[in-house]
Amino acid sequence: MFNTMTITKAAGALIGSLLFLLLVSWGASSLYHIGPTGHLAEGESHPQAYTIPVEDSGAGQKDAVEEEIDFAALMASADPAAGERVFGKCRACHKLDGTNGTGPHLDGVVGRAVASTDFSYSDAMVAHAAEAPVWDAEALQHFLENPKADVPGTKMVFAGLARPQERADLIAYLETQN
Ligand code: HEC
Repeated sequence: MFNTMTITKAAGALIGSLLFLLLVSWGASSLYHIGPTGHLAEGESHPQAYTIPVEDSGAGQKDAVEEEIDFAALMASADPAAGERVFGKCRACHKLDGTNGTGPHLDGVVGRAVASTDFSYSDAMVAHAAEAPVWDAEALQHFLENPKADVPGTKMVFAGLARPQERADLIAYLETQN
């Protein structure tokens, strides 16, 4: 069983090793510490003590490429007949006969000035007209991808068309309604 001597020895060993660790970390930090005391001229950046090499898997780059779709190319091969079917999602609010419904009429919208019919637009859409005055194919595809993100505060309650091909087909169809 434990006697006083054993406990004293154990405690001594423990304190000794703690002291040792303390000294080592103190020594290490004074060796490797690179800080503001390192006499750097103003504007100079602190040198990195070491760098961690990170493998570039290229995954981030791939995402960026996918984001930047070549919309002009999609438009060139877009299918208006498929676009007419996509327009089924818009029909509840938009008409193509020059009259407004829940939303402004969309005949002639490609190339039309933003917020230019006699529809009562939201302030957000009127403000958008000042930034991006014309509904060209690029402006339309951007808006239709995510209306609320493109024109925050818009009255158009529509989640958006996630697939670029769908947007291209739809715009090709709208072009035939100009
Ligand atoms: C639930 C009704 C609703 C649906 C569905 C809808 N919209 Fe709209 N849309 C609106 C309203 C309301 C506005 C007016 C927005 C504003 O003033 O902020 C609008 C505005 C627009 C505008 C701007 C027109 C202009 O004169 O400046 C375009 C373009 C448009 N919508 C296209 C579409 C397309 C294409 C679809 C189908 C993919 C669609 N919308 C689906 C209600 C809708």
